[in-house]
This record gives sequence, C-alpha cells and structure tokens, in this order.
Amino acid sequence: MILAASTQRTVGLVLAVLVMVGLVVYMLFNFRIGKREVGSEIDLAANRTPHVDDLELETRVLDRSLAWSLVTLAAISLVLPMYWLMEPARQENAAIDWVGRFEVKGARIFEDGCANCHGPGGVGGVAAFTIADPDGQFVAQVEWKAPALTTALSRFSEAEVTDILNYGRPGTPMPAWGLSGGGPLTTQQVEQLVVYLRSIQLDQDAATAEINSGIRAGVGAVVTAADPSLTDRDDVDAAIDTWLEGATDPASDDYLLYGELLFNNASAQDANNCARCHTPGFSFGATSEAATADLLEAWPRLAESGILTGWQPGAGHVGPDLAGVEAHFSTSQRQSEFIRAGSEVGIGFGNARTGSGGMPGYGGRVDDLDVIGTVERSQLLTPEQIDAIVAYERSL
Ligand code: HEC
Ligand code: HEC
Repeated sequence: MILAASTQRTVGLVLAVLVMVGLVVYMLFNFRIGKREVGSEIDLAANRTPHVDDLELETRVLDRSLAWSLVTLAAISLVLPMYWLMEPARQENAAIDWVGRFEVKGARIFEDGCANCHGPGGVGGVAAFTIADPDGQFVAQVEWKAPALTTALSRFSEAEVTDILNYGRPGTPMPAWGLSGGGPLTTQQVEQLVVYLRSIQLDQDAATAEINSGIRAGVGAVVTAADPSLTDRDDVDAAIDTWLEGATDPASDDYLLYGELLFNNASAQDANNCARCHTPGFSFGATSEAATADLLEAWPRLAESGILTGWQPGAGHVGPDLAGVEAHFSTSQRQSEFIRAGSEVGIGFGNARTGSGGMPGYGGRVDDLDVIGTVERSQLLTPEQIDAIVAYERSL
C-alpha cells in the first residue's frame, strides 16, 4: 500500500529512512568516539558563588541538556515522516467529507425545489402544467408525470444530468435550474443536487423489481381483458406468468405486444419507459387509444392547435419519431446496441446522425467518480428486453 504511494507518501518514506539511517550513524559514532573528557580549571573571583564544577557541568548537566535535545529531536523525527505518510489519507478523507456535505446540501435543495414535482426522495410525482400554443394561447391544463429520479444515473451520465438540470427540458414542465440556463441555482448547487441524486439510486435488485412490477401491471391488463372471469389475485398472477413465458419468445405472436408493454412501462411514473419521450402526450394522459380520445374530448384545443392529434405511439415528442427507424439502423442489433448505451452529445449514432445526449442508455453503466472511485449503475433492461422493444419499434 505504502509503496504504491503518492508524492507525499514518498517524501514521508524518504524522511523516515533518512532519520533511521541518521540515528544509527549517530549512535555508532557516539559510542565509538565518546570518551570521558578532563575539564579545565579556572580560579573563581571571591565575590562569585561557584557554579557546579566543570566535572559536573561537562557530565550531568551537559548530558541532561543533550538528552532533552535528543528527545525533542526524536519527537520531531517521528512526527515529520508520520505527517507526510498520513497526508494523502487526510486529503482523501477531506474530499470524501466534502462529498458528504454536498449530499446533505443537495438533499435540502431537492426538498425545497424538486420534491413538489418529483416526490419526496425523488420517487416520482406529478406536475400541474398549463399547455399553451406557440402564440401563448391556453390549450389545456394537464397533470404531467414527473419521473422518479431513482434510476436517473443509470440512464444518463452525471454530465448529462447536469445538463438537464442546467437547461431543463423545453416543452415539458421541467424548468431550467442552472444560472447558465436562466435558473436560480449556482454551478455548485447543481453539483450538490447531482451528488444527492447519487444517494437515492436504486440498487440492481430494487431497480429490476420496479421495472418488473410495471411489466406485470401491463400484462395484467392484457390477460384480464382477454379473460374477464379472472379476478382472483393468484389466478391473475399465474396468468401473467404464463403469458410472459410465452411472449418473451421471439417466435411468439405476443412478442411485439411484449415489446410494446416494455416501451410503455408505467412504473415509477414512467421513469423507465420510452413512450414518455417518443409518444406524443404520453406523460400527460395519452397512454392508449381510449385514454387519448378522452383527453382530446376534455381539451379540444389540443387537437385544434396540433399539439396532440390522436394516439400515435412512437411518433415523437422529446425524442424523434420512430416510424422508419429501420432506415437509421441497418440491423436490429445495431439499434439494440444504441438503446443499451444511449446517445452522447456530439457523437454520431445509427446512420450518420449526431447525438444530443438526450437519449438515455438502458444497459447499465460504469462511472468513474473522482474520490469515490468507480461506481456500477444498475442495468435497467436486459438485452432480451431491449431486443423485444427493438422488434416493436421496427414494426411501427
Ligand atoms: C414543475 C415540476 C418540476 C420541478 C419543480 C422539477 N422537475 Fe424535474 N422534471 C419534471 C418533469 C415533468 C420531467 C419529465 C419531463 C419529460 O416529460 O421529459 C422532469 C425531468 C427531470 C429529469 C430527467 C429525468 C429523466 O429520466 O428523463 C431530471 C434529472 C430532473 N427532472 C431533475 C430535477 C431536479 C433535480 C429538480 C429540482 C432542482 C427538478 N427536476 C425540478 C418536472 C419538474
Ligand atoms: C428522456 C427522453 C428519452 C427517453 C426516455 C427515450 N428516448 Fe429514445 N431518443 C431520445 C432522443 C432525444 C433521441 C435522439 C438522439 C439524441 O438527440 O441524442 C432518441 C433517439 C432514439 C432512437 C433513434 C431514432 C432514430 O431514428 O435515429 C431510438 C431507436 C430510440 N430513441 C429508442 C428508445 C427506446 C427503445 C427507449 C426506451 C427503452 C427510448 N428511446 C427512451 C430521447 C429519449
């Protein structure tokens, strides 16, 4: 450990070695050449009291002073290398301590500014939102789902989340928070929020359980619609298991529907689905043909203004229209890879398109977080689930 050390540790080590060698050499010479000295005598004036005699002065008194010097020198020699040896650990602990302080401050900012939409602890919530047309005319008053943020760092890098916080997401209720985007928070406060978000991320088991609960809810609706006599909870559960067993086979007739259910997964306020960014109006109620019809009836100006004209799965919202996506990815495999990794700002993807960093990655990620080291973020969708979604997307 000590050998694989930083500059400070090397300095400490060199000092320690020098002191040791010095001590040995000193003792060696001291013992070898040290011999009793014969003192010189002087006459003392009559008005002066005699001090201790030379013999005493050059032995006990001198030895006492020398002994004390040796003790202080030894203390300094020990403390100095110790200081240098421990300095890196001290610095590291100080940095980690600061991360802890950032987390506490971030939590406070979150409860003040974010929890009203994203829920306490970032578990997801809703935002009351007024939709206006490009001329600023009122169109509709909706409840817009604010996704849970407990898997956000699996989907996005911290730099991408910082970007979302700084600039918000135009066209949605998510406002700009950073000074750079016209918001109230300083760069450091945004950093504190990101550090806080780290502390609320779900581990792999919890993330998988959350996503599975959404899939099962979707499948439950399918099986109970097909067989209304299913009411007992255990029966429904068994029917869901049977359906899933069949539908996850790519040869199954239900495979595309399985992909669609994953695409629309409603758990955690839509946090882990695709529809909230790729299907118009999905976040504020356009979650199915029937639900969209209800929404349009309640708010006719939605259709008149062209903001939401009907149930159009995958037709694009924050993310692009997915119709014809086959033309952008030569093979399903390349499309699956893209969904696993997501887009990066300025990096090309698919058929010569350039990423904005806005498309999340679902295959898990490993982040190198400075003093904390590398952190593995949960995988949100398995490769098989991503393949099913891709099959569904390519059927749109
Ligand atoms: C007025 C409600 C509201 C407030 C306040 C708000 N958000 Fe949001 N936020 C949203 C909505 C709605 C979305 C999803 C937008 C969409 O449909 O794409 C969102 C999206 C996000 C996302 C992207 C998540 C993803 O997976 O796409 C992050 C990160 C985020 N918010 C963090 C925060 C933080 C941190 C704060 C506090 C500083 C905050 N939000 C305050 C409503 C809000
Ligand atoms: C937070 C919003 C968001 C979510 C959630 C999201 N996407 Fe995207 N998606 C985007 C954006 C934005 C792009 C465009 C790429 C870019 O700007 O970097 C994109 C691009 C894509 C593309 C490429 C489209 C093309 O024609 O080139 C595919 C395919 C895609 N997304 C699939 C998915 C799937 C599958 C999911 C769910 C597992 C998903 N997206 C979830 C925002 C999102």
